[in-house]
Amino acid sequence: MTKLRLAIVGAGPAGIYAADILLKAERKFDVSIDLFEQLPAPYGLVRYGVAPDHPRIKGIITALREVLDRGDIRIFGNVRFGEDITLDDLKHHYNAVIFATGAIRDTDLDIPGIDAIGSYGAADFVSWFDGHPDVPREWPLEAASVAVIGNGNVALDISRMLAKHAEDLLPTEIPENVYEILKDSPVTDVHVFGRRGPAQVKFTPLELRELGELRDVDMVVYDEDFDYDEASKAAIASNKQVMVIDRVLQAWRKRDSVNNTGGTASRRLHLHFYAKPLEVVKDEEGRVAAFRYERTRPDGEGGVEGTGEIREVPIQAIYRAVGYFGSPLAGVPFDKRHGVIPNHEGQVLRKDSNERVPGVYATGWIKRGPVGLIGHTKSDAMETVRHLINDQGSWWQPVDSSEEGIPELLASRGVQWTDLAGWHRLDEHEVALGAPHERARIKVVPRDEMVSISRGE
Ligand SMILES: Cc1cc2nc3c(=O)[nH]c(=O)nc-3n(C[C@H](O)[C@H](O)[C@H](O)COP(=O)(O)OP(=O)(O)OC[C@H]3O[C@@H](n4cnc5c(N)ncnc54)[C@H](O)[C@@H]3O)c2cc1C
Ligand SMILES: NC(=O)c1ccc[n+]([C@@H]2O[C@H](COP(=O)([O-])OP(=O)(O)OC[C@H]3O[C@@H](n4cnc5c(N)ncnc54)[C@H](OP(=O)(O)O)[C@@H]3O)[C@@H](O)[C@H]2O)c1
Repeated sequence: MTKLRLAIVGAGPAGIYAADILLKAERKFDVSIDLFEQLPAPYGLVRYGVAPDHPRIKGIITALREVLDRGDIRIFGNVRFGEDITLDDLKHHYNAVIFATGAIRDTDLDIPGIDAIGSYGAADFVSWFDGHPDVPREWPLEAASVAVIGNGNVALDISRMLAKHAEDLLPTEIPENVYEILKDSPVTDVHVFGRRGPAQVKFTPLELRELGELRDVDMVVYDEDFDYDEASKAAIASNKQVMVIDRVLQAWRKRDSVNNTGGTASRRLHLHFYAKPLEVVKDEEGRVAAFRYERTRPDGEGGVEGTGEIREVPIQAIYRAVGYFGSPLAGVPFDKRHGVIPNHEGQVLRKDSNERVPGVYATGWIKRGPVGLIGHTKSDAMETVRHLINDQGSWWQPVDSSEEGIPELLASRGVQWTDLAGWHRLDEHEVALGAPHERARIKVVPRDEMVSISRGE
């Protein structure tokens, strides 16, 4: 039987689903898969992106774990492609590679003042509150009034995390250092700004509705944003999601907190629409002092146009949640404009041409950009794996296809890799840390601590 030795880089949902689909589908080849992950723990954004107060979604980890626990995939955690292992190494040891490296950083928002002190990217904040090992442990939560730019689910996640009282997060898996800082937050007002209208938002009804259920947080919406044009009315009539979003917002308009009158909560979450970012205004010390924007109006086709009316809201911190962006990988083609690996249905293409790069595949967010839910990475993986199987003729011919080759190579480079048993050790350790406090787990954050627990040192 032909042997297929496959490397997958990235142990997020896309990488794990690709391994699962290949192992379940393929009977023509004798398949062996090695999964390389830069972090000492698998699951990508499910562990380090999904908000800690969404335990149901975090629970997808159970399904991903079952795939890994089946025992037919080897994991090399704490191994960074591009530093600890290269494309040439993979060619030496495997028939092909699938890159599933996702996207971890923020898209830029090119407006004056975005470099002010107190101006942050949502991805960095998410990494902090989800205990990512590679971001600082501290986060300066000193602002009473905060702006969040963007109308996607990430904008709602971070607005909720900023507005929610820390005690209400205690039952979740938030790390200790995160709780300690959140509990002293002086925040009173979180202002979310979307450049288009309520019928053009990217967030979903469930996530919106959840904001209205936060304890001691009033939702504030503004009547001026609900003078719908024909295109918005048509979107509300024809799209169930948009219809529900409108219904939730209309219910909030009827509450006392509308236009900031009569709310009794100690914190408020304001939703502003038709607000195009213009500038982050700084004070003399270079700190965030205000958010300046232009009021927009619908252009009749789902877009907006400027009205020339400029407004300013005093704030002390600003978070841009205008999308994530993929990072280039050494030796692998990269589309700088879209932040993805150029590909046709997962078959990687050379830069600026449609020529295929033999043996190299992509799946998940690094394949199609940072949009879509965890479930979408499954269909992605199916497409990529289908091509991989059909491309047998163009696979690499490895020089060393032994099982020991990779551990020996990593050891020779002094790489402290972690394996599946190590992940189980870390997992059990985190669960045990949480048990006395009746919490599902308490995450271990420092990378060296994660590695030494995993390696039983
Ligand atoms: C803040 C946030 C919240 C979200 N919440 C939800 C939600 O509630 N529900 C939902 O369905 N979807 C949610 N999503 C979307 C979901 O997270 C993505 O659809 C999914 O994680 C994409 O999977 P992926 O495997 O492509 O990327 P990732 O999950 O990012 O996984 C990529 C993996 O590759 C690793 N990697 C990267 N570079 C290297 C390298 N050089 N070497 C080795 N390894 C590397 C990374 O460490 C990571 O583990 C959320 C997204 C974000 C940003
Ligand atoms: N709970 C969940 O299910 C959950 C949680 C988090 C993330 N996710 C998923 O993860 C994916 C990524 O989410 P995301 O929120 O990062 O991205 P997103 O859904 O693409 O939303 C990005 C938002 O930023 C706005 N934006 C972009 N550029 C801008 C600019 N220059 N000025 C002002 N606004 C700008 C967009 O407005 P326009 O629409 O006008 O471009 C949009 O409102 C999505 O598929 C999301 O559903 C899911």
